[in-house]
Amino acid sequence: VQNGLGRTPQMGWSSWNHFGCNINEMTIRTTVDALSSTGLAKAGYNYVNIDDCWANNQRTKEGYMAADPNKFPSGIKAIADYVHSKGLKLGLYSSAGTRTCSNTMPGSLGYEDIDAKTFASWGADYLKYDNCFRDGSTETVRFPRMASSLRKTGRPIFYSICEWGMMKVATWGSRYGNSWRTAGDIKDTWDSMLSNIDSNDEYAGYARPGGWNDPDMLEVGNGGMSNGEYVVHVSLWAIAKAPLIIGCDIRIISKETLEILSNPEVIAINQDRLGVQGKKVRKYDGEIEVWAGPLSQQRTAVLLLNRGATGSRPITAAWGDIGVGPSVAVEARDVWKHETAPGRFTGGLTADVAPHSCKLFVLTPVVRQR
Ligand code: GLA
Repeated sequence: VQNGLGRTPQMGWSSWNHFGCNINEMTIRTTVDALSSTGLAKAGYNYVNIDDCWANNQRTKEGYMAADPNKFPSGIKAIADYVHSKGLKLGLYSSAGTRTCSNTMPGSLGYEDIDAKTFASWGADYLKYDNCFRDGSTETVRFPRMASSLRKTGRPIFYSICEWGMMKVATWGSRYGNSWRTAGDIKDTWDSMLSNIDSNDEYAGYARPGGWNDPDMLEVGNGGMSNGEYVVHVSLWAIAKAPLIIGCDIRIISKETLEILSNPEVIAINQDRLGVQGKKVRKYDGEIEVWAGPLSQQRTAVLLLNRGATGSRPITAAWGDIGVGPSVAVEARDVWKHETAPGRFTGGLTADVAPHSCKLFVLTPVVRQR
């Protein structure tokens, strides 16, 4: 939606993938500190999103949502102030139903205006709006309603629609949201990660500055995949212009995880101002894939992916598949190695790719010397 927000895919951290309901104000505050001290905030991860389970089980007598006094004794406004004092932005969570998905807090159905006003008054900058405990009415009514309530507050609030890709959300969600989930909940496994990005790929044409397909948050650093698999996870999310929302405990982040999440060349692909979602352009032998998408300044991002579990494979990105003109010569930069391959390439680029891994390149046309 054109509300000035989400000109590039959102980046940040969310409590859900690692902490679930086990959150409190110390968790959030220490995470905010870690975003700064690790350099992740500087790398672009600027939203601090409190997911489900932050509110009291019931509304106040007057009908307001309130923070759970055990978990957030200082209240949400105090957290927002702290987040803002570090130059970051605060995200909150609710549901387009009578309860949220954890069933520990009220949902916003029927309370859209009052809740949007409350969130805005606390200084929220982002709302993830989920789809549990819905009444009989359709997504295409309940999600737009919160969009208009948020707009009425006058505060710019990033609107993240989370209805899991039901009702072909991309086809209408792009009118209301800054991002919309295209799949169910990601799990910290290779298969789940690939399944989510595959569903997401079907809607590539709907992404643009202002609104993005969302294959769900990152599992990098949570331990269920190898570092090589997490590199694939981030590479796919980067080229597909997916939100980069960290989901691990960054207070105890390892050096390897930090490197995977904060590679500036990979982030630059995701945040490129052209804002065109890269997609799967070629598939062979069931496990070999080429993904590609255009970047600004006539450049092209290319991902060579070996989904197979055994054996290194040579993979070729053919110019005809990736949208590069037949006679164009390019320089190929391997953004994980931080290395520009020697020589120039015309017609195609081939590289060996190990099992469950990928190579990610940025191709830059070489201007011919006269
Ligand atoms: C749903 C969402 C998740 C998370 C949980 C919280 O399952 O899809 O991302 O927000 O709810 O309960």
